Amino acid sequence: MSLNKINPTKTKSWGKLKTHFKSISSSSIKSFFNKDPEREKILKIEWGDFLIDYSKNRITPKTINLLVNLAEELNLKESIKKYFTGEKINQTENRAVLHTALRSKQNESVLVDGLNVIPEIHNIKNKIKNFSNEIISGKYKGYSGKSITDIVNVGIGGSDLGPSMINEALKFYSNHLNIHFVSNVDGDHVRDILKKIKPETTIFIIVSKTFSTQETLTNASTIKKWFLKSTSKKHISKHFIAVSSAIKKIREFGIKNENIFPMKNWIGGRFSVWSSVGISISLSIGPENFNKLLKGAHKMDTHFKESRFEKNIPVILALISVWYNNFYNSETEVILPYSEYLKKLPSYLQQAVMESNGKNFDRSGDPIDYQTGNIIWGSTGTNSQHAFFQLMHQGTKIIPSDFIGFIIPLYNEIDHHQKLMSNYFAQTEALMNGKNAKEVERELKESGLSKEEIKKILPFKVFKGNNPSNSILIKKLTPESLGSLIAMYEHKIFVQGIIWNIFSFDQWGVELGKKLAQNILLEIQGNNNFKHDPSTANLIKKYKLNS
Ligand code: F6P
Repeated sequence: MSLNKINPTKTKSWGKLKTHFKSISSSSIKSFFNKDPEREKILKIEWGDFLIDYSKNRITPKTINLLVNLAEELNLKESIKKYFTGEKINQTENRAVLHTALRSKQNESVLVDGLNVIPEIHNIKNKIKNFSNEIISGKYKGYSGKSITDIVNVGIGGSDLGPSMINEALKFYSNHLNIHFVSNVDGDHVRDILKKIKPETTIFIIVSKTFSTQETLTNASTIKKWFLKSTSKKHISKHFIAVSSAIKKIREFGIKNENIFPMKNWIGGRFSVWSSVGISISLSIGPENFNKLLKGAHKMDTHFKESRFEKNIPVILALISVWYNNFYNSETEVILPYSEYLKKLPSYLQQAVMESNGKNFDRSGDPIDYQTGNIIWGSTGTNSQHAFFQLMHQGTKIIPSDFIGFIIPLYNEIDHHQKLMSNYFAQTEALMNGKNAKEVERELKESGLSKEEIKKILPFKVFKGNNPSNSILIKKLTPESLGSLIAMYEHKIFVQGIIWNIFSFDQWGVELGKKLAQNILLEIQGNNNFKHDPSTANLIKKYKLNS
């Protein structure tokens, strides 16, 4: 049975939310706290090492009740069940969506077309583990008899962003291996990496679910040519491995059966980091830590599956996001990790969220007349405070934010951490409270400014406040907590897709540009002429004449 096809804006709950919006939208978060100092106790979720404080939002407990009613009216519970049990909810590609099975326990059972997929998942996990141990221990030798020092992950989109984000995030736990990433078809990218490595001590992991992605195949073939300048073809099998579901194409590239780490078609690229796609992570932090990452994600899966909506982290975060997106018309969400290790999280989430929920047709194939997927952006605190926080504090837009912080630092640099965290706390408070004209006037008077001077400068020093934020406070950045954090966002995406009545697991929107680029490439490389608008035609002409 497929997912329901209900237009959310036509539900009873939506109507009630509209009325509720009118009644509270002119009140400030600060005033909600004044009226109900206890709201912090209600509008938060404590779960293991996570504290999610969502009280600094333009909501009241009633808003949450109404949003939960909406989720119930849209059969979210039923949909979650379908998501976890292998139903083909990726209907436009006729596929199940089972990244959650990748982190299931060995004794669980998940059926796809009547077949339990868990045993195979664990066989592949064992293969990853054995391979990682061989490389890490130095037992595995390259063609000249030396141990491996460098790993190059060649892939793009989901075959790059997940592994590269997590490798960066868990660098603290990494071993001696140097991990590199080549993704862009820009030849400068691959050349820059090749400069740093030696063929005899490097393993290349070609990661492509389809093994047909232009960027990845071009980079892989450039690397192969470079490799063969130093040695013969027979050594390819020692240095090239592949992660893919397209076995025939991998063999054509010259990679042997034993070097293939399979991927199933029920794993979407942007949710694939838990599969063989994560092999570079297992190599860099070791299979045990990789397992902890999966364990953390599994914990979040269980929380999501089993908790009632009012206490369910992904559900609550998704509903608050729908509230801003569809009632306040806010277009973006900012992700602000207060950890330099998480600097790649915003770009990772850009693909996860925007490729999933950037849809303008509903599940019946009808055009949508309400807002769907949010625009995701962000950067680490405190760097971002010195870059774009000006606009968050004094700009004209409503920008819901996720502040992600950790209680315990990794290097025990207590002074640094106290400063980092004081900024983390200060910013959410400042965003909410702002500073009114009276407060500014008093401060300026105290600093000795004249009446005239105060009058001139005052408006520029006022902060309107009432800017919403979620505080996601986690005990420590570990493989396990990171696994839970990523899974939390994955499920948030799922819930939003269900509410918006869209298919979150396809990505047809990336096809058009790809096709056009193929034609233009023929044009650039030969004498073919395709029809273009005058602007594009002239740009191509200019390039051809001058390149
Ligand atoms: O950009 C579209 C996309 O299909 C992504 O969804 C995917 O993660 C990426 O390309 C890479 O695809 P592949 O793993 O098949 O090379």
